[in-house]
Amino acid sequence: MDHFLYRNGVLHAEDVALTEIAAAVGTPFYVYSAATLTRHFQLFDAALAGTDHLVCFAIKSNSNLAVLKLLGDLGAGMDVVSGGEYRRAKAAGVPGDRIVFSGVGKTRDEIRLALTGGIRQFNVESEPELRAISEIATALGVTAPIALRVNPDVDAKTHEKIATGKSENKFGIPIAKARAVYAEAAKLPGIEVIGVDVHIGSQLTDLAPFEAAFTKVRELTLALREDGHKIRRLDLGGGLGIPYHQRSNEAPPLPTDYGAMITRVLGDLGCEIEIEPGRLISGNAGLMVTSVIYLKEGEGRNFLIVDAAMNDLVRPSMYGAHHDIVPVIEPAPGLAPQPFDVVGPVCETGDTFTKGRELPPMAEGDLVAFRSAGAYGAVMASEYNSRPLIPEVLVSGDHFAVIRQRPSFEEMLARDSIPEWL
Ligand code: LLP
Repeated sequence: MDHFLYRNGVLHAEDVALTEIAAAVGTPFYVYSAATLTRHFQLFDAALAGTDHLVCFAIKSNSNLAVLKLLGDLGAGMDVVSGGEYRRAKAAGVPGDRIVFSGVGKTRDEIRLALTGGIRQFNVESEPELRAISEIATALGVTAPIALRVNPDVDAKTHEKIATGKSENKFGIPIAKARAVYAEAAKLPGIEVIGVDVHIGSQLTDLAPFEAAFTKVRELTLALREDGHKIRRLDLGGGLGIPYHQRSNEAPPLPTDYGAMITRVLGDLGCEIEIEPGRLISGNAGLMVTSVIYLKEGEGRNFLIVDAAMNDLVRPSMYGAHHDIVPVIEPAPGLAPQPFDVVGPVCETGDTFTKGRELPPMAEGDLVAFRSAGAYGAVMASEYNSRPLIPEVLVSGDHFAVIRQRPSFEEMLARDSIPEWL
């Protein structure tokens, strides 16, 4: 459920008409609903209510400071994968002991940053990284809490570019090697082994691969305890999928089902449970709103040329991803839909959001909204074709605020410099 509904024929974000935001900030823009973000976070929190747990929002899905502040104030932890994300979490007021550092290539500077600023745990992905953390922690005179990210060799049955839990993927330590690496970790100075971490992929629409992975984590935890390690925390990653098609029977498992499965498989181990959802919290809490620039008749097809492009929302061209596209002004009943190729102005054929999509009749200047754009939307945007990053807006009830400004062209140009010898 989200908070983007038609009222009096106009699509609203909570109590604010999108036409009002478009008039104030111009198009294209992203808009997020505070109520939906809150609701989604609380669903996860409630799903694990009987267990000692922390829901760490995967910042990579949406890293706007206002979004992080909202979730942080609700008690969320943060899962970060770079020094930049770590700084964002801190800038949003999240304390270090609620920040988890994941990622396959943490640099020494990033490790130092987290160790000096405070960190809940590093999810370590390789032996060289483990040694680097040990060296830096020892030099700083601190102890680094760590979990090893194990690769359980489970097929997540999702898009190949976002599956991470197969042995051929670059992520984690092969589970068969895990006991040996834990033994090494226990001997290293500056390291405190506290848990096990796993993340098998994103946009999973079935609980079975999660359960297979968590069962392996359970077996490993028991074996590690036999080896004398004090495993007290399990980080189960993110990955729960969301419905991208509003009008279909698509019904991915709910956080409640996911939480119940976690409790069933791991509940008796007495470990603290950590999860790292991104998409399920932010995805359906956001829209991208764009206007129609031109309607162009091609040979046997109609192009709807909008002012947003692949640089603003790359998921369709990168993964062939589907986003529902809806008009902001509700179409009059009875109008026959027509097939459109919805495209942006970027000079690439790949700048195609969808082909042959049935939409109500459209005209120049009409506003259309791309649904499910709150996750992996703004964060993956670029300035390709020298198109400024588009603004982000947060709505709460009947008010809204611009939470990232559209940069001016002067600001964009000022970042380049021409050497004096040219
Ligand atoms: N934890 C780790 C270690 C991750 O790598 C990820 C996502 C998450 C948590 C959050 O997963 P989520 O709950 O959002 O599924 N750009 C792609 C998605 C990439 C996901 C990468 N890792 C897309 O637009 O579909």
